[in-house]
Amino acid sequence: MEHQLFVFPGNEDFSEKLLLHKGFHRGEMTLRRFPDGESYVQIRSEVAGRHVAFLCTLHQPDEKILALYFAAKLAKQLGAKSVTLLAPYLAYMRQDKAFHPGEAVTSDAFAQLLSNWFDALVTVDPHLHRHHDMSEIYSIPARVLHAEPLIANYIKNHIHRPVIIGPDAESEQWVAAIARQAGCGFLVLKKERLGDKEVRVSLPNAEKFRGHTPVLVDDIISTARTMIETIEHLHDAGTKPPVCIGVHGIFAGEAWQDLKNAGVEKIVTSNTIPHPTNGIDVSGLLVEQLGQGIAG
Ligand code: R5P
Repeated sequence: MEHQLFVFPGNEDFSEKLLLHKGFHRGEMTLRRFPDGESYVQIRSEVAGRHVAFLCTLHQPDEKILALYFAAKLAKQLGAKSVTLLAPYLAYMRQDKAFHPGEAVTSDAFAQLLSNWFDALVTVDPHLHRHHDMSEIYSIPARVLHAEPLIANYIKNHIHRPVIIGPDAESEQWVAAIARQAGCGFLVLKKERLGDKEVRVSLPNAEKFRGHTPVLVDDIISTARTMIETIEHLHDAGTKPPVCIGVHGIFAGEAWQDLKNAGVEKIVTSNTIPHPTNGIDVSGLLVEQLGQGIAG
């Protein structure tokens, strides 16, 4: 299936890789702000009768969401056959329950919003925790791609005597799978979140892996507190400085600098969110998915 690809600002590098694939044709659009801060959207390519895809990774989502809505609605008004969202990072997956009375469960509300605007969604490793499948909250086909084999490859090819460290009990399944594919051992931490910027982490049996390179793997690095707490335990246990790998490097505020200051050998992220730490290219996963039908 051929798609007209419209690219939101910040996704240009990623889009260049997609556009190498014959299934994608570059669509021209103008996005800008009026002086009063309102969004202006113009689609300049023919979309009538065509499948349209918008590439818009969704970190800092509140800044993008309205323009995304205007663009999706406009594509439909102009006669697009289908409108798909390619969001390598999908936002609003973490508040998946009301932790305190009166809180909005934004994962569900955001899913309803996108399901109303798009015909399909493709994303990479969304933070599925209390929800186990996207279909629990998305009413459109929502295709999930996994960075796991790419991370395992990176570890195999770049890291000497790795041992993989997972941040919490829920990570065990995917950390174990990465360790299996990379041919190394793994440990899983016990983590307690005390607030937005505070987590308590404990690391059993770290001494066993003193001669190894610890590789911290997490789906999201946001404040980096989870990784920093873990690194402190690794230091106490006398291990080597770790390599930190995140699928989605959000790096809120000073997180990148804080993590560097914590004493790491290297920080590596995938390119779902553009950042200087990007070292794992996941664009091929989307291209592969395209081959099988974008949301099929
Ligand atoms: C949470 O369950 C996730 O898997 C990550 O551990 C978390 O999002 C990391 O956040 P932060 O970098 O703010 O500690």
